[in-house]
Amino acid sequence: MLMNKQPYNSPARPSIAASQALRSNSSAKQIRMASNILASATEKVKQMAGASNQKVADLSAVTKDVHDESWRATTDFGVKINTHDDWLRATSEDKIGPGLLEDSIGREKIHRFDHERIPERVVHARGSGAHGKFTLFESAADVTTAGVLTDTSRETPIFVRFSTVLGSRGSADTVRDVRGFAVKFYTDEGNWDIVGNNIPVFFIQDAMKFPDVIHAGKPEPHNEIPQAQSAHNNFWDFQYMHPEATHMFMWAMSDRTIPRSYRMMQGFGVNTFTLTNAKGERNFVKFVWTPELGVHSFVWDEALKIAGQDPDFHRKDLWTAIEAGAYPKWKFGIQVIPEGKEHDFDFDILDATKVWPEDLVPVRYIGQLELNRNPDEFFTQTEQVAFATGHVVPGIGFSDDPLLQGRNFSYQDTQLSRLGINWEELPINKPVCPVMNFNRDGAMRHTITKGTVNYFPNRFQVGPAATKDEGAYMDYAQKVAGMKARLKSTKFKEHKNQAELFYNSLSAPEKSHLTAALGFELDHCDDPVVYERMTSRLSEIDLGLAQSVAELVGGEQPKEQTRPKHNKTAKGLSQTEFAPEKPTIATRMVAIIIADGYDPVAYNGIKAALSAAGALPFTISPRRNKIFAAGEDPKTGKGVVADHHLEGMRSTMFDSVFVPGGAQSIETLRKSGRAVHWVREAFGHLKAIGATGEAVQFVRDACDVSGMQFSTSADVVDSYGVVTAAQVQPQSFKEVVSMAKGAKDFVDAYTFAISQHKNFDRELDGLSVMVAY
Ligand code: HEM
Repeated sequence: MLMNKQPYNSPARPSIAASQALRSNSSAKQIRMASNILASATEKVKQMAGASNQKVADLSAVTKDVHDESWRATTDFGVKINTHDDWLRATSEDKIGPGLLEDSIGREKIHRFDHERIPERVVHARGSGAHGKFTLFESAADVTTAGVLTDTSRETPIFVRFSTVLGSRGSADTVRDVRGFAVKFYTDEGNWDIVGNNIPVFFIQDAMKFPDVIHAGKPEPHNEIPQAQSAHNNFWDFQYMHPEATHMFMWAMSDRTIPRSYRMMQGFGVNTFTLTNAKGERNFVKFVWTPELGVHSFVWDEALKIAGQDPDFHRKDLWTAIEAGAYPKWKFGIQVIPEGKEHDFDFDILDATKVWPEDLVPVRYIGQLELNRNPDEFFTQTEQVAFATGHVVPGIGFSDDPLLQGRNFSYQDTQLSRLGINWEELPINKPVCPVMNFNRDGAMRHTITKGTVNYFPNRFQVGPAATKDEGAYMDYAQKVAGMKARLKSTKFKEHKNQAELFYNSLSAPEKSHLTAALGFELDHCDDPVVYERMTSRLSEIDLGLAQSVAELVGGEQPKEQTRPKHNKTAKGLSQTEFAPEKPTIATRMVAIIIADGYDPVAYNGIKAALSAAGALPFTISPRRNKIFAAGEDPKTGKGVVADHHLEGMRSTMFDSVFVPGGAQSIETLRKSGRAVHWVREAFGHLKAIGATGEAVQFVRDACDVSGMQFSTSADVVDSYGVVTAAQVQPQSFKEVVSMAKGAKDFVDAYTFAISQHKNFDRELDGLSVMVAY
């Protein structure tokens, strides 16, 4: 349930008391008091929610609070300073003189600033993180000894970082790109990291190709253009030249790469790991996270616009949901293949360009991840967190997946450039269990280890390795035989079957989005070799797809399917299969557009209904000031203060738009092109739109295309997710909402339309493209 409403488009706001104090008082003391109210209120929310855990407690030992009124500014060596502002200089009251090198305070301040930046991640540089917990509802003791996957009484602290891959640290959140989904489990036996993505496969099979695929996707070397996009010659050149990328580029062009929210995407470990049980039996495993809120995406036009309108959209969305107590949750699943069945499939189960279709290997959901606390500071937590696929705990191991083997080297290695050799001592990376060994020294060593020896064996026999019973990591005794050669097994050579399987398994709207995405990307390639070759590659997957893309981007129309189709489909590939168990509008943002003279019954009624169902209503008006209802006297009435004015926000920031009636309000909105644009754009982006009373005609005029129907009476009409009721009474609005398809009641029908995220029929039947937006 939402405890506190915060606009997703602005940073966490002070409480009302705090912001009033901040506005009306200028004295430093009052501002400090206001900040303290804010800080303690935020802390209270966190405590109330029980969002603390062993890792958070561990971090608190190295955390200081800037809002503590008792502290005074000091140098880094602890001496209190007497000014933040003036360099020591040889000067007089009427003449400014030169600054003195002697001023260690001035020098320290500038020197520290000069060195604030560290290298950004070579990939996945743009990201946001949060703390949370992992709980297990079913033990997996039949396949593993890992405590984190077998002990159902445990609550394991975790830190998650979501990211884009290609863009630099300041790039926009909503670009088309794969999203990183990296999870650090602080287990009692050490840290376990699942460094995954929101797509279950990858571009390459062998880690040795990673620099190539990333160089090809990043901005081109001669001019560093384009930023955070795959829509350029080099990316698509590589995709053609490297056929094993075919399956992945199909996923990359699907709706998965323009997620509506980090909270609404799946996560996959991608690589094949292993689990070993108490009997010593080994199983191959893949890991998956499935969000409680369903898997949802933007439409491309929306993602494009938000990249400019609010580059921090996903970051704010995650931050605000957690601050508001609407903690995102994911189910954790495993797909398991016993060691003896490794070769039972027509693909190699160690090939990261392949999924394990759920029909063949079902997902077993055994646990839950919840994100419930925002970091206190971005740099020391989200930026300094460092994941490594090599971090596994007893009971979990690696397979011979050639991508994974290389990753196990790469993450450990890259942290040296970014953070230095003692990176695992940084507070966010430090395990919650004891760490003791004879690794010593190096830049920025924090730990002080007492004692006279730093080697083993030693005459005191201190620091011995652990036994199995003491919880040592035991390597699985795997038999290995073969030639020393740069070879892969034969099954690694097939690259198209699952690309077709994925395409066949998509819903009609997903297929059309994928076609449009390829159309957009290849349109940005100006070298004909690149786009012509790509359309020929597509004709190996699906001729219809290849022809549609060729028609959009130019070049010759492919004439024939150049690889025989298998026409199979599989479960779990289309994201439409992951709708929430019951329709929900929790955390959905709804814009209610009003002007003076609005209908207060509909306005207040819908606001209460939306809030009761966990959605976030926002009032949007021509001005961010008091707006008065029909019949309310501006001299005596209280009015409502809009959250934003029509130009301050756009429909793109919201999941739905509602317009209540009120003759005067509608008259005003009718004269505002921007207000009309809000409705048209929401229509074009397939969002639920609600209108009552006089607003029905307003919405009708904005998007009256052939095939649409609108209410003309008290009857509720739901036409392609545009829900209208021309006459409403107070009893039309209620707080107990039962969202259902075809509901007769306005609130039920409208909230159901919001819960569907998008009305894809509007697009499939060709209505959305008929409205200018
Ligand atoms: C299955 C394929 C892969 C997945 C799912 C994946 C996922 C990720 C994720 C999620 C991150 C961001 C971690 C964070 O939030 O800090 C990341 C970073 C990185 N990945 Fe991968 N990656 C894959 C393949 C590879 C390969 C093959 C290599 C190298 C051989 C590699 C090297 C790196 C490096 C160097 C970083 C930056 C790490 C840092 O600075 O903290 N990745 N990867």
